[in-house]
Amino acid sequence: MHFSFWEKSGFAVLIAAWVVWGSIQVGNALVQPTQLAENAYPIEVAESDTAAAGDTAEAKVEESAVGLMASFDSAAGAKVFKKCAGCHTVDQGGPNKVGPNLWGVVDANKGVHDGYSYSAALLAVGGTWSYENLDKFLKSPKDYAPGNKMTFGGLKKASDRAKVILYLRDNHSNPPPLPQ
Ligand code: HEC
Repeated sequence: MHFSFWEKSGFAVLIAAWVVWGSIQVGNALVQPTQLAENAYPIEVAESDTAAAGDTAEAKVEESAVGLMASFDSAAGAKVFKKCAGCHTVDQGGPNKVGPNLWGVVDANKGVHDGYSYSAALLAVGGTWSYENLDKFLKSPKDYAPGNKMTFGGLKKASDRAKVILYLRDNHSNPPPLPQ
């Protein structure tokens, strides 16, 4: 049998197409199990990572911010205070917003800022805003004074609480001594 040039070329194209299609199929078949094998490992690693990260995060939540205050400066606290600034001013004579102005709040009695109407829940706690009390309140406002109206999730990192408490201390006519 004799094939013309064009017939041969036609076969060549068909065979080439078949080879390409075939290798795509084989390729897909090979790649599929490889992807599964690859996924399995990162998931395991990710799980142990998350567990480790969770442990540290929990440890941080338990940590007290008061002992950390000396390690930071108030400029770092100004950054953290951006999370509060939607609801609070901190400058002397600043207006009350959703929450009261916070000038001089450290060591002040709770719920006494002029012209602000506090919730009964916050007033019921009583006492002063010592560093320890601010630390507990800012960690979880709703656990510290259940039913109070500061709808803020809290600062989970002790370092963030330390910074912002330091910043509150500096926005004060008579800043109380730093904790020993
Ligand atoms: C969503 C608004 C909101 C945010 C955000 C917020 N607060 Fe408040 N805050 C309030 C309200 C409202 C009150 C009054 C609570 C009450 O009377 O129950 C309050 C009360 C307080 C008090 C008690 C003041 C006093 O005179 O007794 C302090 C201290 C305080 N906030 C600090 C902070 C800090 C620090 C942050 C940021 C880390 C922050 N708040 C974020 C709304 C907010």
